[in-house]
Amino acid sequence: MRAQRLAWAITGSGHYLRESLAILQTLQEVDIYLSRAAAEIIQQYGFQAALEATGHKVYQDKTASSVPVERFYEGVYHTLVISPATSNTIAKMAYGFSDSLVTNLFAQAGKTRIQSIVFACDTAPELESEAPRDNVVKVYPRQIDLDNVAQLKRFADTTVVEDMAGLQHAIMARLAAVHELHLHQGVQVEHTHD
Ligand SMILES: Cc1cc2nc3c(=O)[nH]c(=O)nc-3n(C[C@H](O)[C@H](O)[C@H](O)COP(=O)(O)O)c2cc1C
Repeated sequence: MRAQRLAWAITGSGHYLRESLAILQTLQEVDIYLSRAAAEIIQQYGFQAALEATGHKVYQDKTASSVPVERFYEGVYHTLVISPATSNTIAKMAYGFSDSLVTNLFAQAGKTRIQSIVFACDTAPELESEAPRDNVVKVYPRQIDLDNVAQLKRFADTTVVEDMAGLQHAIMARLAAVHELHLHQGVQVEHTHD
């Protein structure tokens, strides 16, 4: 039996994009999924090299039916991480939409009872956010944005984290639990960087 992997989806957010890519560089056995907006934002922020430096395979949102989601049905993944998650993707996920690659990943993770860990951009009524070219802007998430995050927190098999420390902690706890499970199942865990 092959060890399962972690799927990490990135949406079109500048907020904590740099930090999400930095965490991705530290992880092994990961596949990255980009929303259409994420592919553009990564270019705009000049983070293409940082994305490539993670060394992970990248799947892009190029099909209407989100073909790569098949990999969830095939049992390839133990966990889905979505970070950073835009207000747009959070709103769609909170209301059950699955009309893009990332919202499909979340829907299929839920329907196959795979754990999701989500870092939502809109964590507080007032935030400082990274804009292109190293600029910082003040952002004031609307009540609807905060309500959508609260709605998502009620989902089964879903952990919504508030910051990067919470994200790292949730990922490490999940990897430890999966490792333990694999050991019990006699799964061969690979330690090479892919
Ligand atoms: C430079 C730039 C930065 C952006 N940063 C954010 C952000 O931090 N949070 C957010 O919710 N949307 C942000 N957006 C808007 C999203 O990219 C936009 O809503 C997009 O439709 C999201 O699509 P997705 O959720 O499928 O990735 C940004 C857009 C641009 C052009």
